[in-house]
Amino acid sequence: MNDNRFYINELNKLFSGRSKKAYVRSFGCQLNVSDGEKIKGLLKQIGYSFTENENEADLIILNTCAVRESAEDRVFGIIGSMKKLKELNPSLIIGVSGCMTAQEHIAEKIKKSYPQVSFVLGTSAINSLPKLLLESVHGTRFSADIAEYDDFSETVEQVRESKFKASVPIMFGCNNFCTYCIVPYVRGRERSRSAEDIISEVTRLVQTGYKEIMLLGQNVNSYGNDLSGGISFPKLLRELDKIDGDFIIRFMSSHPKDASIELIDTIFDCSKVAKSLHLPVQSGSDSVLERMSRRYTAEKYLQIVDYIRNRDSDFSLTTDIIVGFPDESDEEFEATLDLIRYAKYDNIYSFIYSKRSGTKAAEMPDKISDEIKSERMRKLLEVQREISTERYQRFVGKKMRVLVDGISKKRKGFVSGKSSEYIIVEFEGDSSLIGQFADVEIIESMNWAVIGKKI
Ligand code: 5AD
Ligand code: SF4
Repeated sequence: MNDNRFYINELNKLFSGRSKKAYVRSFGCQLNVSDGEKIKGLLKQIGYSFTENENEADLIILNTCAVRESAEDRVFGIIGSMKKLKELNPSLIIGVSGCMTAQEHIAEKIKKSYPQVSFVLGTSAINSLPKLLLESVHGTRFSADIAEYDDFSETVEQVRESKFKASVPIMFGCNNFCTYCIVPYVRGRERSRSAEDIISEVTRLVQTGYKEIMLLGQNVNSYGNDLSGGISFPKLLRELDKIDGDFIIRFMSSHPKDASIELIDTIFDCSKVAKSLHLPVQSGSDSVLERMSRRYTAEKYLQIVDYIRNRDSDFSLTTDIIVGFPDESDEEFEATLDLIRYAKYDNIYSFIYSKRSGTKAAEMPDKISDEIKSERMRKLLEVQREISTERYQRFVGKKMRVLVDGISKKRKGFVSGKSSEYIIVEFEGDSSLIGQFADVEIIESMNWAVIGKKI
């Protein structure tokens, strides 16, 4: 554990009385957003307030994502554009954190080519932020801490964006090394938080009015494997379900190789656990799954889907698909289309394969052109649009319980929220409903949302 109390006190003394503003921007997945909230928690202890406008900031932190090249390019563009801000305000401090920094060649590139950046902070070194910040304030040209620490910053109270939706990381890192994925290289091995810490955090959140708890991990199904005491993810869910209060529990992500019958039964048994499952399949082709090192076949995956459908044919499933994995043939791509037609997902999140240096797939030959990859993506989305349109019709005439999360961007006088099935529901209402549950009768369906009437 990094003793950051000392550095926080020093910074407090240095800043005494002067108001300081920080601009913290997180990219990528919800785990990264959650890290960004921890960074804000530390900055709050140092006395920073927050701004959405980088032009008025004394401190800028870009909390980056490395999962696809496009995300990295975007961040480099933003860092580049911040050179001007630094010239206008030489005391401005710019830091870069998150998954990009954990790749040595990137940390090196930032140090060498972007002198406007004062420090880089690794994904498990968030507690070192006060130390790096103090060094920067004292004029150190560049500092870095990208070591892997085991403490989970349990003591840092996150500054959460939302007053009713909270994400709670239950584990960090990944042991799976899917051949396309950079995550195991930038977030290290799996480390689970203790069940007691998670249960007390969720209890506190529910007591302070949070209505949706999103449990986060790269593969929540292996939660507890590194802990003694026999705790597993389904057991954790059952414990959390016992907490008093009106709230909903969601989780992501689940690796299909570890998705058990016990997990599915737990979802059905626990009244507070949302009735939806995100189960990333990536491809419907066994040969591609093998090259991805996913350690299941399409048949094995569909056995889980069948088990779910036999319990409830309306159950809501979503998935991730990678299009254009190295040397993906037409037949292999067709197998993915067949699988999504069979599984009948409510939604899919699809990505064109992005080569990540350091991963095994980056060494694989790939003769497929970008045009073919884009065409496959178009086709995949077209097929899924038809499936979503058909699937969403099952809600018409039904009652849904919705957690309202904002004003509708498409319809004036309407609010928007999510049902237990993670379906977007819009209905007539005003901002006083935001953060509340509402019972809604569905009158119309589309392929991206359903429209209803408050009961
Ligand atoms: N290229 C494209 N998509 C990727 N994903 C992970 N790595 C890559 C990559 N190199 C996708 C996977 C994963 C989701 C979070 O991002 O589908 O489930
Ligand atoms: Fe990446 Fe696979 Fe781990 Fe998910 S399970 S984070 S895709 S290596």
